Amino acid sequence: MTNTLKFGTLDASYQAAGQLEGIIKLVDAFYDYMERLPEAAEIRAMHREDLSDSRKKLSYFLSGWLGGPKLYKEHFGGISIPQVHSHLKVGAEQRNAWMLCMKHALKDQDYSDDFKKYMFEQLSVPAERIRQVCSHAQDSE
Ligand code: HEM
Repeated sequence: MTNTLKFGTLDASYQAAGQLEGIIKLVDAFYDYMERLPEAAEIRAMHREDLSDSRKKLSYFLSGWLGGPKLYKEHFGGISIPQVHSHLKVGAEQRNAWMLCMKHALKDQDYSDDFKKYMFEQLSVPAERIRQVCSHAQDSE
């Protein structure tokens, strides 16, 4: 019998991410890359000048998304990730830029290689969903 829960069951991913403290580190690294990487300049410009709200909201969202406390819901209410992005112009390039920042941020964390890979794959799903919803929103403009 093993104590290791597969990522994605119960709060195994939340624990693997280092709970809220670890998630905040990941999100801080993510937005730091967004501020620095030339490939991310366009998506950085879509955000407000002050990124503190974005840092907090993404950290709170990921807490619940990874099976931990549903902090986003507690503090800000329900959320549909594709919906909150539908007003933005997110195509393949912008989706890739977001994922590139996440790839670098994951690389810097003290996570196992398996968990880094798992996180990257899992986050690709909503990122692609956003691209799809945005492309439909733009088609009907
Ligand atoms: C696909 C590329 C993406 C782009 C270009 C993008 C861009 C943005 C922008 C510009 C905002 C608004 C920030 C503001 O005005 O304060 C935002 C908010 C947010 N994004 Fe993304 N995002 C992307 C993917 C994702 C993904 C994959 C997730 C979740 C896994 C996510 C989670 C959030 C959350 C939780 C918020 C805050 C929503 C709110 O409460 O207003 N984003 N994003």
